[in-house]
Amino acid sequence: MNSFNFLFFSLLFLYSFSNSDTDFDFYHLRLTWPTSHCLPPNNCTIPSWYTMFSILTFIPRTEDNTPTNCSSTYPFNYAEVSTFHSLLAIMWPDIWNFTNPEDYWKTNWESHGTCSLSELKTEKDYFRQAILLHNRLNPADFLANSQILPSNSIPYSYNQLDNAIRSVTQKNATFHCGFYGDQVVLHEIGFCIDKQFNVFDCSQAMRDWESDRCGSDHDSQSIFYLKSVP
Ligand SMILES: *[C@@H]1O[C@H](CO)[C@@H](O)[C@H](O)[C@H]1NC(C)=O
Ligand SMILES: *[C@@H]1O[C@H](CO)[C@@H](O)[C@H](O)[C@H]1NC(C)=O
Ligand SMILES: *[C@@H]1O[C@H](CO)[C@@H](O)[C@H](O)[C@H]1NC(C)=O
Ligand SMILES: *[C@@H]1O[C@H](CO)[C@@H](O)[C@H](O)[C@H]1NC(C)=O
Repeated sequence: MNSFNFLFFSLLFLYSFSNSDTDFDFYHLRLTWPTSHCLPPNNCTIPSWYTMFSILTFIPRTEDNTPTNCSSTYPFNYAEVSTFHSLLAIMWPDIWNFTNPEDYWKTNWESHGTCSLSELKTEKDYFRQAILLHNRLNPADFLANSQILPSNSIPYSYNQLDNAIRSVTQKNATFHCGFYGDQVVLHEIGFCIDKQFNVFDCSQAMRDWESDRCGSDHDSQSIFYLKSVP
């Protein structure tokens, strides 16, 4: 191998390392509206007092890639987060198994938390940061600020929801919808978070991709932000 080739292959080697699966550029904090998420046939039981968006997941990602399961050498250890148990149980419940969230935290840690180890060095850091962000980013309050309240009879438009969130955060969020029969229901609001934990504008491509089920006419009042399971 001549020296040029040697250099070339060395660079290629380095390059493949710097682009390894564990690299990420930002976090996507996905908050879900449990009422909509738990409509039949999804069989989850959310307590009636639960009236906030909960953390669905907190994902380190790049614009077009979501690395997963990045470290098998750092398995979930409940003891590391046990001091946060009561906060996490409220903010990051397992909406499918509300009273037993530990397995859900384990899955989230192993699938996603291990992929932000370059920034959030421990399991405790990862969950603590999610709690801090959830505390700052409360979509139910942001929507209520624009008189958008949960309702089984009044639907909202995508633009109404989008403008309400933007008017508080000054940043573009992602929206995710689902179907209940032929009704479109709001499932999730997601925030793009940089490595300094500031909210920034999610890209239009990501917003479009996430919102494919919210309908293409963003002015039509077609999205239900459900107050209760009808
Ligand atoms: C829903 O969950 C409840 C409680 O776990 C259970 O009793 C019931 O059979 C489940 N229903 C369906 C349709 O899975
Ligand atoms: C809820 O979690 C507990 C403890 O992990 C488990 O035994 C139980 O089967 C789970 N229930 C459902 C409905 O998944
Ligand atoms: C990643 O880890 C999660 C949680 O432990 C597991 O359920 C899933 O099967 C794993 N996925 C892959 C592709 O290994
Ligand atoms: C935020 O969204 C609005 C409305 O879709 C759009 O006009 C604006 O360009 C977006 N801003 C950024 C920085 O993406």
